Amino acid sequence: DRSLKIAPSILSADFADFGREIRAIEDQGADWVHVDVMDGHFVPNLTFGPPAVKAFRKHVTTVMDVHLMISPVDAYIDAYAEAGADMLTAHVEAGPHIHRTLQAIRAVGMKAGVALNPGTPAEAVTDLLDVADMVLVMTVNPGFGGQKFLDMTAKIARVRDMIGDREVHIQVDGGVDPTTAPLVVAAGADVLVAGSAVFRGGSVDAAHVYGENMRAI
Ligand code: DX5
Ligand code: ZN
Repeated sequence: DRSLKIAPSILSADFADFGREIRAIEDQGADWVHVDVMDGHFVPNLTFGPPAVKAFRKHVTTVMDVHLMISPVDAYIDAYAEAGADMLTAHVEAGPHIHRTLQAIRAVGMKAGVALNPGTPAEAVTDLLDVADMVLVMTVNPGFGGQKFLDMTAKIARVRDMIGDREVHIQVDGGVDPTTAPLVVAAGADVLVAGSAVFRGGSVDAAHVYGENMRAI
């Protein structure tokens, strides 16, 4: 299914009120809920781990899309399956055995995503496309919301060519807003992550504001 999907990143939500924030974005049309897990080691920021993600699951009625910015990954796969992740994405840069990691993610019943940092070429996924359900092309260096979009449209188009007829999503994450979204969609992306562009202006009548923001993307 290559129809366009919006996946708001709750990294830009109110950390004291995740349940309400998740309900607000889903009520207003979010297709997936994107959950950014950071370990203070693979990236210079720290967010939350499996117990928090399990708590989010109670509120997510769509697809819980968990983006791991952690290294190592393998020791935590079971914990995220148990927490209820539908899609679990690991970075190619996170260790020497990404192929094994993707197989392990599928083996416990989740969809497997593979992420590329801006400095990593499309060719890094050449031999992973039969063990992956999604390729995540980062358009910022991971770690923080609200960063400036980096133009990775050539890489997105290259990955789209490499995927061919396979059922593999292309997700784009970082600096996606009403200006940059059309560029990445034209290049072949079908899942757009957006944090600050969705949650900006929230808090008073959040559901209303978030819906407007999503429709603008
Ligand atoms: C960055 C995260 C993103 C982040 C995007 O490391 O992976 O998901 O929340 O935030 P915006 O949309 O504000 O760039
Ligand atoms: Zn992310």
